[in-house]
Amino acid sequence: MAGWGSGRVSGSRDGARSQAPWQAASTLPASQRAGQAQATVVTLSGRAPAKINLVLEVVGSRPDGYHELRSVLAPLALADELSVRVGVLSGASPRDRLAVRGAGALATGDNLVVRAAALLRGETGRPLAPLAFDLRKRIPVAAGLGGGSSDALAALDLAAAAWGLQLGAQRRLQLAAALGSDVPFFALGTWALAGGRGERLWQLPPPAGGPLGVLLVVPAARLATREVFAALDAGYREEPPHDPHASPVPLGARPGAAADLAARLRRGATAAEVADTEPANDLLPAAAAILPGLEPLRDELGALLGRPVHLSGSGPTLAVLYPSPGGARRAAAVVRDAAARRLLRPPGGALKVIATTTIGGEA
Ligand code: C5P
Repeated sequence: MAGWGSGRVSGSRDGARSQAPWQAASTLPASQRAGQAQATVVTLSGRAPAKINLVLEVVGSRPDGYHELRSVLAPLALADELSVRVGVLSGASPRDRLAVRGAGALATGDNLVVRAAALLRGETGRPLAPLAFDLRKRIPVAAGLGGGSSDALAALDLAAAAWGLQLGAQRRLQLAAALGSDVPFFALGTWALAGGRGERLWQLPPPAGGPLGVLLVVPAARLATREVFAALDAGYREEPPHDPHASPVPLGARPGAAADLAARLRRGATAAEVADTEPANDLLPAAAAILPGLEPLRDELGALLGRPVHLSGSGPTLAVLYPSPGGARRAAAVVRDAAARRLLRPPGGALKVIATTTIGGEA
């Protein structure tokens, strides 16, 4: 399934499909005003996939206040849908606009979608037509699934296309990194090993033999990434096994876990092998300090499903990996049934259960 890796967008002009409709948008005369009958409105749209972190190590603090990470990330079929209209819009305002569906209460004013468009406009130093974004949220918000970051990359690509701007690969990555630590990952569209604050990326092959099935269990409670890292700094971290010869002493609970999984993928690890990856997320103690119900829920799911349970990103989404999509679908039914019978106690009182798959690297 195509993500945003290649910056592809699809579009329509006055309802008709076109190869490169955004070129028409960039030639609109600035003097056109709403209400003129000949107005051309171009709509472009695309998907913004979620991600999971299969492993997330915090290996140190950085002088810039961020944390040095090592993480293996996989893009998911679960995706938001973003579209943008440019041209002469009815009731056109001089500002970019964002309408969001499907996310409950989500602030749109400071949303990364609008910030991505503003960043690109600022880069060009030219007056560019206002954009009207429509975002259909399917990725749970503030859940450790990268939804906001993925939306930002999609917005960057859509804005560039709508304005007829060619973004070089390097510039695209730089702009993505300026929007957030997780955003560059979504520019790749493949599995990746991430370093730095998340913006240094090495592509990885996906598991051999097809995508993983991924069960996502998302508690209703939200977690802000910044607060989880702050809890880590306040001391909510697992100490690594003491090794007197290790120098410097690594911060994480399972040092080398990300490099180890990356090496296994490079050697052609199968979906079954990757699905058995031992959980390693150094943010778990910090996330659990803020949401005390998280670890009990993880233990309940582990007992119910008999499989390792991972925390994705800064949480609170818990992920269970299967060698095939069918395994995740069956597990989703089991978890929904247990939740209906009140056998699970999710923080926030409710949970969302999503069966999806990894993507990236398929022909
Ligand atoms: O980069 P982004 O704005 O997405 O990060 C959100 C917050 O998460 C940062 O303000 C920072 O507090 C924390 N963070 C961090 N180290 C990272 C990534 C994020 O401390 N590698």
